[in-house]
Amino acid sequence: MSTARMLTGDRPTGRLHLGHYVGSIANRVRLHQRYESFFIIADLHMLTTRNTRGDIEQVSRNAREMVTDILAAGVDPARATFYLQSAIPEVGDLNTLFQNLVTVPRLERVPSVKEMARDAGKEEIPYGLLGYPVLQAADILCVKGQVVPVGKDNAAHVEVTREIARRFNHLYGEVFPVPEMIAADTPTLLGTDGQGKMSKSKGNAIALSDDPATVRRIVMGMYTDPNRVRADVPGTVEGNPVFAYHDVFNPDRARVAELKARYRAGRIGDVEVKEELAVALNRFLDPIRERRARFEGTSGLVDQLIFEGTERTRAEVRRTLVEVRRAMGLTSAYTQVRRRAERYRKAVATPA
Ligand code: TRP
Repeated sequence: MSTARMLTGDRPTGRLHLGHYVGSIANRVRLHQRYESFFIIADLHMLTTRNTRGDIEQVSRNAREMVTDILAAGVDPARATFYLQSAIPEVGDLNTLFQNLVTVPRLERVPSVKEMARDAGKEEIPYGLLGYPVLQAADILCVKGQVVPVGKDNAAHVEVTREIARRFNHLYGEVFPVPEMIAADTPTLLGTDGQGKMSKSKGNAIALSDDPATVRRIVMGMYTDPNRVRADVPGTVEGNPVFAYHDVFNPDRARVAELKARYRAGRIGDVEVKEELAVALNRFLDPIRERRARFEGTSGLVDQLIFEGTERTRAEVRRTLVEVRRAMGLTSAYTQVRRRAERYRKAVATPA
């Protein structure tokens, strides 16, 4: 293992689904073997679009469920540090300092910021949401992350991080690595309705934690080729989510090729193709279910992992902040104040 550091993570909005798995979790499972890995539970980022008391009350449960899903997917807790962002106030300090290293028009050009505002039903962009990529830079650089695996929607944020790291180093000396992004190269997974990407809020998701019967039920109700009224009508494979999932989750390539050929020729029914998909998906999910059962079986274990990870990360972030403040000259600004104050106190105590 190299000692290079990897940092990535998610906002704690609930259970993870197959779209998360394909878009980022699979990559993490692979990469965490190779790097020293930090996984952020980005609840401060969640606040940029969801900040009611109700939203915040769900953070600790969502964090536990999300981390459980990541562990169930195959991340080894002995090789990964999970931490809760809001428990490390020094991240906010770094965010404040970074805010001066990027301009408003630069942030306005980040496409995801507008998209997140739109998705959250906000007409105007909150100040915190505009600064979303800056806070993300603070996350990545507070532990001096060198490698950042992210989905496509986050690529622009990592670009802002790279600019901030360079700008900081240029102004104050080499403190930060300029992190490398590893973008997922897999195509975005369609939702079960075939209408855009999988998303819990659109009700077109299969959760990693769904039981076999639920998975089967969802698959049997999946959108296929709407023009196909009978099994002997030639069907379309392209853009058909049932086949898109076969491509990703069914390891029997020869069988998938055969199913496609028969589907195109009108020699197999949708039901049969779906039955086989349900079996393939459940086979894929079985080892994830087994690992989840182990983590859920030991009550408090996941919380303990998050707690330990947060404490460890906080110690690390504090060291970075000391270095940052020194490099910027902020430490010496206060030292000068203190020295003059000391001299003043002495002078007052011993009149000439
Ligand atoms: N922006 C990520 C998301 O879409 C969450 C996140 C916050 C993150 N800080 C990060 C990802 C740092 C990678 C690195 O949920």
